[in-house]
Amino acid sequence: MFDIELSKLLLEWYAVSGRELPWRVKSGPHPDPYVILVSEFMLQQTTVKTVIPYFHRFMQRFPSLSSLAEADLEEVYNYWQGLGYYTRARSLHTTAQMIVRDFGGHFPQTREEILKLKGIGTYTASSLLALAFNLPETVIDGNVIRVICRLYRFTAPIAEITALIRQKAEQLTDRTHAADYASAIMDLGALICTPKNPQCLICPWQKFCLSKNTPDIESIPVRSKPAKKEKTGRVYIIRDSQGRIFIRKRTEKGLLSGLYEFPWNENETQSPVCGSEDSHLQITHVFTHFKLTLKIFTLTTETGPDGGTFVAPQDMKNYAFSTLMKKVYQKYCSISH
Ligand code: ADE
Repeated sequence: MFDIELSKLLLEWYAVSGRELPWRVKSGPHPDPYVILVSEFMLQQTTVKTVIPYFHRFMQRFPSLSSLAEADLEEVYNYWQGLGYYTRARSLHTTAQMIVRDFGGHFPQTREEILKLKGIGTYTASSLLALAFNLPETVIDGNVIRVICRLYRFTAPIAEITALIRQKAEQLTDRTHAADYASAIMDLGALICTPKNPQCLICPWQKFCLSKNTPDIESIPVRSKPAKKEKTGRVYIIRDSQGRIFIRKRTEKGLLSGLYEFPWNENETQSPVCGSEDSHLQITHVFTHFKLTLKIFTLTTETGPDGGTFVAPQDMKNYAFSTLMKKVYQKYCSISH
């Protein structure tokens, strides 16, 4: 009874106060699963606010599954540029091709089949099934974890109570309105039950929440995260006598694959490349599992390392760089112009 009342209150609140988002219809599942596919890939590691303009541009260029499947990966990267975590772009592209090739262009609608696609784990599978097909799936992201932990006042570290969180989240899910329910609980976490300064006074669940207005509410949920590993390295801006800059393409495998970069290495114990100068500038970028600080060195030479080309500064915009390398270039430009 308690759970039914909670989900009813939440859905009523969502109908009035839920976010209008470009990949969302606010009543029922989205009629086009491709829209959910693209948005869920973009939202995997990026905030809603950042994703919105990228989503619009991407959908304008690749409005359908087939248009994405037929596109060159290089162009897909261009539209992903700045969103980070580029493996997602490659996986999304492969997934579009797999759906066209293996499923005749029709979206698979079972968990088992969806998990065979590229770049889709249990979270994205659940959100696709719920948001695109209204299937009774429970979506659990950071927002949902926060809401559930506060509602039941779970103060143990998240990693120790994942099964309990899932059990409670599943009990609360309105299985006949799975799409709206999934969006609604994410919105509750994003708009009301925020990490800082939660708006308990206007929360649809205030009557039931065991953490409502408690002084320590911001400390729930409890995360026991190991500190991010710190890595350092050097990056080289290599110019030729015409002022062109050396870039090279990363190989198709691993971190930031397929994107362009300035030569860099991770090993601070070696001496810098012969003839290079320390610019005394550095940038730091935070990845999922580590933090990387690169010192920027400059070098003038007519012959760059193997496997790259010199590009005029005005042409740099035609190459897809990772956010890490964009930061390097911006920093370098701040002193060289
Ligand atoms: N985060 C992941 N998926 C989302 C969605 N569909 N709406 C808002 N935030 C999300």
